[in-house]
Amino acid sequence: MNDTILVLNGPNLNLLGQRQPEIYGRATLADVEALCREAAAAHGLSAECRQSNAEHVLIDAIHEFRIGSAGIVINAGAYTHTSVAILDALNACEVPVIECHISNVHRREAFRHHSYVSLAATAVLAGFGTHGYALAIRHLAHLRADKTA
Ligand code: DQA
Repeated sequence: MNDTILVLNGPNLNLLGQRQPEIYGRATLADVEALCREAAAAHGLSAECRQSNAEHVLIDAIHEFRIGSAGIVINAGAYTHTSVAILDALNACEVPVIECHISNVHRREAFRHHSYVSLAATAVLAGFGTHGYALAIRHLAHLRADKTA
């Protein structure tokens, strides 16, 4: 088991800080990635941050980290609600997967209430803003400490 957490952001999350700030806030993707690296470092871990608007690139990243990493934090954006292919990739993971949404998807449109990602997730966070990523990383560190204890 290595010390790296994959933080994977899906479509349109490159526009964080500009896109619907009333929903997603003012922090940019670079801000979120810095926060993730800091949160991981606080637990002696490192965060590999990736973002893509392309489903297959997200799947390839999951494949890369599915065995031997310290876990995966995924905000699959709209693919959360549509992608069986991402679910299949996550089901092939031997490491814990934390699903993270900046907004509280359950307070929003009905089509956001169903998540394929949740079917494979160890835990789900929604509505914590970008702080949710740090909480997810903290939980992965906790799971790892339990495992190595
Ligand atoms: C999101 C919620 C999704 O429904 C949406 O498509 C996103 C972002 C969130 O972080 O709140 O792109 O995953």
